[in-house]
Amino acid sequence: MKPLHILTLGAGGFIGSHLTSRLLREGHRVIALDTHADKLADVLDHRQFTFVEHDIFNHDFPLEQMIEEADLVVDLIAHANPGLYVRQPLDVFRLNFNENLRIAELCVKHQRRLIQFSSCEVYGKSLTAVCGDQLKEPHHPAHATFAEDTTDLIMGPVEKHRWIYACAKQLLERVLHAHGLERKLNYTIIRPFNFIGPKIDYLPRDTDGVPRVFSYFMEALQTGEPMKLVNGGDHQRCYTYIDDAVECIYRIVLNPDGVCDRQIFNIGSPANEISIRELAHLMRDLYRDEFAPANPQLPEIISVTGEEFYGEGYEDSDRRIPDITKARTLLGWEPTWVVRDLLRETMAYYMSAYPKSLA
Ligand code: UGA
Repeated sequence: MKPLHILTLGAGGFIGSHLTSRLLREGHRVIALDTHADKLADVLDHRQFTFVEHDIFNHDFPLEQMIEEADLVVDLIAHANPGLYVRQPLDVFRLNFNENLRIAELCVKHQRRLIQFSSCEVYGKSLTAVCGDQLKEPHHPAHATFAEDTTDLIMGPVEKHRWIYACAKQLLERVLHAHGLERKLNYTIIRPFNFIGPKIDYLPRDTDGVPRVFSYFMEALQTGEPMKLVNGGDHQRCYTYIDDAVECIYRIVLNPDGVCDRQIFNIGSPANEISIRELAHLMRDLYRDEFAPANPQLPEIISVTGEEFYGEGYEDSDRRIPDITKARTLLGWEPTWVVRDLLRETMAYYMSAYPKSLA
C-alpha cells in the first residue's frame, strides 16, 4: 500500500499520541492538530510529521484546506471524562457534537474518508440495569454484551446530565450514517472500550481536570489517601491495552478490500472484565508487591456516592462487554493483553513519569 497523507485531529491525547507513533513507524505522513503536544514529544522531530497547534473552536483557520489535502481524516477530538459531563455539559455537547459535525461535513464536501472515534458509552446501560428483576439470569454476560449493529442503546433520564456525552456521540454516529446513505460519506466509526496504557490522563494533583479511575487510584496509592469506590465499586469495565487497540485501529486505517467502509467497530477486550472494586484491590496489591517503597502505608478502600464524587447529574454505565465478532472476522484482530499485565505496564509507566511518591 502506498503511504497515506493522514490528518489526525485531537492527536495530542492518549489514543492519538500512540496512533501517531504507529502511523509514522508504518511510513505514513501525519499532520496532527491539537491544543497541546506534550504526549507527542517523541515524534515532534520526525520528518514525516507536522504538528499544528490549534483549538478547534477557533474557526478562523484553514481546516477545510487541510481536509481537502488529506487522503484520510482521523477525528479523535473529544471531551471523554465523566467528571466533565457533569460539570460542563454544554462544553461537552459543543465539542463532541457541533465541532465534530463540522469536520464530518467538510469530509462530505471533499469526499474524504473519515475515521470517527465515538465511545462505548453510546450503549448506555445494560438490560440488567433497567429490567434485571424480569430476567431469568440477571447477571448473565449476554445482557451486557453489546454488538455494533444490533444492540439497542439505553440512556438515563435528561436530568442525569452525564448522558449528554453519550447522546452527543450517538447523534453524531446517526448523522454520519445518514451522510453515508444520502451523500456517500465513507466513514468508519470506532467505539473504544476502556483503553488503558502509558500516557492515559494525568494525575489529579497535576491539574484541576477530572481524569479516569486509573489515575485517581494511582494518586491515592502514592499519597496514601483513600481509594474511593463510587457507589461501592460494583460496576464493571473491560480494560483494553493501548497496543492491542492501536493494532486494531491500524487495520481499520488500512481498510483491506474496503471492509471498514460505512462500518462501526467495537474495540475492546471482552475477557478483561473486572469490577471497579476488584480493580482497586488488584492495583493496591500490585503497588505493594512491585512498586511501593519498603513498609508502605497503603490506602484504605472506601465507598462514596456518585453525587459526592462527581456532583449532581451523575449516573453510570453499570456493565459493558464488547462483542468483537466484527473486528475478529473482518480484520482478523484479537486482543492479547490480560488485565494484570496491562495494569502492571501502565503502573510502571506512571511510577517513572511521576516518580515522587508522596506517601
Ligand atoms: C470513560 C468515558 O466516559 C468513556 O467515554 C470512555 O469510553 C471510557 O472512559 C474509556 O476510557 O474508554 P468510564 O469507564 O466511566 O468512561 O471512566 P472512569 O472515569 O475510568 O470510571 C470507571 C468507573 O470507575 C466508574 O464506574 C466510576 O464511577 C468509577 N470510579 C471513578 C471510581 O469508583 N472511583 C474513582 O476514583 C473514579
